[in-house]
Amino acid sequence: MSGGLVAFPTETVYGLGADARNDWAVRGIFAAKGRPADNPLIVHVPSAEEAQAIAVLDGRAQALAARFWPGPLTLVLVARTGVSLVARAGLSTVAVRCPDHPLALALLRLTGRPIAAPSANRSGRPSPTSALDVLEELDGRIDAVLDGGVCRIGVESTVVDATGEHLTLLRPGGLPREAIEEVTGAVLSPSHEPGQSKSPGLRHRHYAPSVPVLVVDPGADAVLEALRTYPAASVLCTVETAEAIASAVPGLQILTIGRRGDAGTAARRLFGALRELERHRPEAIIAESLAEDRMGLAVMDRLRRAAAAAGSDH
Ligand code: TXA
Ligand code: MG
Repeated sequence: MSGGLVAFPTETVYGLGADARNDWAVRGIFAAKGRPADNPLIVHVPSAEEAQAIAVLDGRAQALAARFWPGPLTLVLVARTGVSLVARAGLSTVAVRCPDHPLALALLRLTGRPIAAPSANRSGRPSPTSALDVLEELDGRIDAVLDGGVCRIGVESTVVDATGEHLTLLRPGGLPREAIEEVTGAVLSPSHEPGQSKSPGLRHRHYAPSVPVLVVDPGADAVLEALRTYPAASVLCTVETAEAIASAVPGLQILTIGRRGDAGTAARRLFGALRELERHRPEAIIAESLAEDRMGLAVMDRLRRAAAAAGSDH
């Protein structure tokens, strides 16, 4: 790695990587994405041992890493030296994760250095879950993309702040909070101080396709009602709801996110479906809600942020 930008697959979404120790390379990530400089990046490592070199892992963090790495868990830890302050957005902490993907791990081992990598989308857009998605977002702005096919999980990692007395959930993601709570034996408190979220990225516009997203209650009735307000909308819903509404509204464009109760499939399909639907420039995307447990929590977080972004331009 000589300061270049390489997009690579992980089990969650594609990342846009650069040498985490190189200020200049890391600035390139922010520039390519149009990412605000106050939003720190996740630093990827090939193992927990490598994490120890750049961050302080107490017993609790070591237990989580031992149980869930490689995997979709990012730990916010007290930083040691070694990671560019640009990547950390000037913070004394650093977000670290070990991705569970052979290409990502090969890249980390071959380069022999930590790789800073946010999701490989333009700032505010849905995350890419295929190499083609990456090119759609960043072609001409990056040096290479490693094609590993479609991402297995489909939403980003779960971000947990492990710097305080209690663990806090900064971003729900590919590792269900319930799985973490089983290991720690304690409830993972969400970080809910509106407007002053500890995860800087959550202040910003996110996951938004180029058309408005409307999140409605589960079931065919709520979707049909929303269609009365937005007759030229497209629909993202469960298989069951699709079956119920398809005959009622001929010609309606519907993409399904799997069967009701299968939030894992919903997560895998979510960002790709938003991209596919926006290509047809509907008036709006009407998205059916899922139950907010396990993977459903991460899916609903992304949908709500996509919906909240409508009309906002900060
Ligand atoms: O699955 C993922 O996590 C993907 C893949 C590529 O690993 N990466 C990803 O990165 O989603 P990004 O930059 O899109 O999201 C990083 C999140 C942001 O919400 C950011 O604010 C938060 O992690 N974050 C990073 N460093 C932090 C820190 N020191 N303290 C609190 N939050 C931090
Ligand atoms: Mg992102």
